[in-house]
Amino acid sequence: MPRPRPRRPPRPRPRRPSARRGGTPSPAPPEPSERTCEQHEPSHEEPRARPPGHRPHRGRPVTVDAATLRSVLRAHASGVAVLTAPTPAGPAGVTITSFASLSAEPALVSFALADSSSTWARIKDARWFGIHVLGAGQTDLAERFAARGTDRFAPPTRWTGGLYGVPLLEGCPARLVCSRRDVIRTGDHHLVVAAVEHAERGEPGDGLVHLSGGLHAVGPTAPARP
Ligand SMILES: Cc1cc2nc3c(=O)[nH]c(=O)nc-3n(C[C@H](O)[C@H](O)[C@H](O)COP(=O)(O)O)c2cc1C
Repeated sequence: MPRPRPRRPPRPRPRRPSARRGGTPSPAPPEPSERTCEQHEPSHEEPRARPPGHRPHRGRPVTVDAATLRSVLRAHASGVAVLTAPTPAGPAGVTITSFASLSAEPALVSFALADSSSTWARIKDARWFGIHVLGAGQTDLAERFAARGTDRFAPPTRWTGGLYGVPLLEGCPARLVCSRRDVIRTGDHHLVVAAVEHAERGEPGDGLVHLSGGLHAVGPTAPARP
């Protein structure tokens, strides 16, 4: 005959603090996209020492204000390009520094336009885009395609209608014709991922970058600045 098993005493149930009992309710977990200091566990490679003046943001998302970010990123030299697209109302185009090469296989690029950009409102449904990498001698073109209230495609802009009706600017060191792949609404921008359908080199020469709030020529023949 089997022996009866000894009965275990019941386990104590953990008590949750409740607002009704006067306890403090647990704070809601932070959104996955919001990284906080507390969430960031330093790895063995990271020193725990804080730099002088460092004030941890206890419980708040780690972020910086727009003015600080703009000021710090003046140190980031970024290539200047002009984005174009055909629209039912005619060609649209705008100067950007957000253009980036994203993937080689498949060939993908990306760019981002601000919510406030009237060009975004015009091209948000476009399926085809032109990307023009600007050269050292195209400061005027960069400024024209960043200015508001002007016809950017009027002379002296030289352009033609290309593949899929994409407006193609003349005299650029590199041009791409791309198809829309994905649009991600993030922050105050729309990040567009586009597949490169056609790529060509144009006039060789030095490049144009945006640095410290200005446009500068860079490259082997660009005049060196002190
Ligand atoms: C060098 C430079 C780079 C720029 N890069 C971007 C960019 O990447 N994305 C963007 O939305 N606007 C960018 N702008 C602002 C646009 O060129 C343009 O001035 C702004 O969108 C207003 O024009 P719109 O209303 O026709 O779009 C840049 C301007 C300059 C001068």
